[in-house]
Amino acid sequence: MARSLAGGLLRNGWDQGRVILSDPDADQRRGAEQALGVRVYADNNEVAARADILVLAVKPQALKDVAAGLAAAVQKKRPLVLSIAAGVRLEDLERWLGGDLPIVRSMPNTAALIGSGASGMFANARVRAPQRDQAESILRAVGVAVWLDDEYLMDVVTALSGSGPAYFFLVMEALERAAIANGLEPATARLLTLETAFGAAKMALEGREEPALLRARVTSPGGTTEQAVQVLEQGGIRQLFDAAVRAAVTRAREFGDMFGRNG
Ligand SMILES: NC(=O)c1ccc[n+]([C@@H]2O[C@H](COP(=O)([O-])OP(=O)(O)OC[C@H]3O[C@@H](n4cnc5c(N)ncnc54)[C@H](OP(=O)(O)O)[C@@H]3O)[C@@H](O)[C@H]2O)c1
Repeated sequence: MARSLAGGLLRNGWDQGRVILSDPDADQRRGAEQALGVRVYADNNEVAARADILVLAVKPQALKDVAAGLAAAVQKKRPLVLSIAAGVRLEDLERWLGGDLPIVRSMPNTAALIGSGASGMFANARVRAPQRDQAESILRAVGVAVWLDDEYLMDVVTALSGSGPAYFFLVMEALERAAIANGLEPATARLLTLETAFGAAKMALEGREEPALLRARVTSPGGTTEQAVQVLEQGGIRQLFDAAVRAAVTRAREFGDMFGRNG
């Protein structure tokens, strides 16, 4: 994810000299240096001592130790901190870093890896307007980014766009399987499924009409689509998505409690 963010910034015109990374693993360092042409340090503190914007992109369970190891350098330099670690709450991260810092927490999703991410962002009260713009420009380098006005909503974003790609992959899997069961060649079923998903997303993103209206337009009374949609509605698709998102929100909240505990 860190490499994707750095790659997005370079594509957006950031000078290579303005982006520095750190990673304790020598192979990762070599890989990142070769792929991006930027300086990659072995010690996180080398970056923390230099960065005006410090992006934390380690796994959530590693963040407490990483933050504690950075606290002294961060308190000295006082950068804008941007965390992309899923589930870790601002007050916990701020405490681990020694307190009183401008921090933006964000939740990108896996499509950020190909520049089509959808991220939610939340800033603490110490983040000033130009810093909000800076954090936003970093996440916009890999997709769209929206601000939330309550950190509690980050769990909902986690359940929607964080986990969301998997919901659509599941629909693609099911649709492809059904087409094959009805006699289509697997390769044909795959191609038509993926292009249909892409085309539908593109039409919806154009935004001329909302999804419900787009659906109504392709659902002629007594037609094939109507039959299929009726089966999905009768099977409780809406209630299922409601329950699925609730379950993911609950889990995200549990992760937040777990990561912030004892620290
Ligand atoms: N991938 C996603 O779709 C996604 C979506 C939303 C949010 N996120 C968040 O983004 C963060 C990164 O996820 P990822 O998928 O990019 O994970 P990842 O591929 O495991 O990347 C984490 C990187 O941090 C490095 N690292 C480990 N310990 C470190 C330390 N002490 N100091 C500095 N670097 C260290 C790892 O190096 P080694 O390989 O050597 O361990 C690895 O290069 C996570 O917090 C995750 O919750 C990811």
